[in-house]
Amino acid sequence: MKFTRSLVVLTAAVLTVPAVFAQGPAASLYGSKCAMCHGADGKAATPVAKMMGVPSFDSAASKKQTNAALTAIVEDGKGKMPAYKSQLSGTQVKELVAYIRTLQKK
Ligand code: HEC
Repeated sequence: MKFTRSLVVLTAAVLTVPAVFAQGPAASLYGSKCAMCHGADGKAATPVAKMMGVPSFDSAASKKQTNAALTAIVEDGKGKMPAYKSQLSGTQVKELVAYIRTLQKK
């Protein structure tokens, strides 16, 4: 009986964590600063993305990039990708890269 109850609590906790994460600060930052080019789902399926040659985060090439490489691109920019070093803290960039990883799993 006790075991079942803790299992329920545990399951609920596990289920709530990604939900909270999805609506966390990284998600809203992504929505306000990145989604216009990368698309809300990161797949770059927007007219702006097509015009600018934005890569899909869900592509094999993007998945292969290391966190350090993605972090460098967010901070320093690359091609038409703007640099965000002056606007975002190191922690925010780290959270955004982690958020991009969640988009790659969808
Ligand atoms: C003005 C449009 C635009 C905005 C806004 C933008 N990006 Fe980009 N992003 C690009 C383009 C274009 C590229 C491709 C750069 C290249 O490879 O030449 C890119 C590439 C990237 C890459 C590298 C992907 C890969 O696989 O190489 C990451 C990571 C990234 N952007 C993250 C972000 C984040 C995080 C934000 C918001 C803080 C953001 N971008 C906002 C246009 C944009």
